[in-house]
Amino acid sequence: MPSTVQLDPARLPRHIAIIMDGNGRWAKERGKDRVYGHHEGVLSVREIVNAAAEIGIEYLSLYAFSTENWNRPKVEVAALMELLVNTIRKEAEALKKNGVRLHVIGDFDSLPAVCRKELREAMDMTAGNSRLNLILALSYSSRWEISNAAKRLAADVQAGLVALDDIDEKRFGTYLTTADFPDPELMIRTSGEYRISNFLLYQMAYAELYFTPVHWPSFRKPHLIEALLDYQQRERRFGMTSEQLRQPHPYIPS
Ligand code: IPE
Ligand code: IPE
Ligand code: MG
Repeated sequence: MPSTVQLDPARLPRHIAIIMDGNGRWAKERGKDRVYGHHEGVLSVREIVNAAAEIGIEYLSLYAFSTENWNRPKVEVAALMELLVNTIRKEAEALKKNGVRLHVIGDFDSLPAVCRKELREAMDMTAGNSRLNLILALSYSSRWEISNAAKRLAADVQAGLVALDDIDEKRFGTYLTTADFPDPELMIRTSGEYRISNFLLYQMAYAELYFTPVHWPSFRKPHLIEALLDYQQRERRFGMTSEQLRQPHPYIPS
């Protein structure tokens, strides 16, 4: 079984992004309703958040509900929103105690009022923490985020607050919902699908991608360590050659 002692502390990603997929299939395989899979998935969230904090990861982004997920059957959407409220209500104290700071990215205003209230309270409660930043992507999609950023930037140009010539990658990044976070170095997707499903498209330009057939409710600490061990074997080249990287002080773009 993989263990944390096998990890090289000098080569840990600062930011891990996870597409938590396969709750429905996990439940179906057990003859249960999809919603049962979502409930069990919360146990994995709890374990992975604690494990990430223990390992020393600074940022953990979890894709919990996409813009496209609003198109699911009404009962499933309602169950997911209810689960979100109950989970935040139950877990906020533990997050606070464990040094976890909660952030939310996505179209916050599209969430039901009761969700917004619980989330806001938990964000306020944990605002003083800095051990692990837990970023929940809710009602999130990259195309929503990027077009929204473009719109707000255009408004600032129109208002004379930003000059056209000042627009570059760095400036554009400040209009994204992730403006305060570094880009993820590692993206994990569970449940055997090989796609990004509209998650952090801009931010994952140079992320290492890791896919596992394990369904989210079965994904636990050893699986996270396995993904990290795999990540630590990779050579991140950023467009350069292997030889360049082996020089004493290679230039690595931030
Ligand atoms: C991930 O599991 C949870 C959400 C997208 C909310 P799914 O519900 O997508 O499970 P599968 O992919 O249908 O098995
Ligand atoms: C991606 O999973 C979204 C979340 C994990 C929240 P989906 O199950 O919705 O993605 P697709 O539809 O299979 O691409
Ligand atoms: Mg899915």
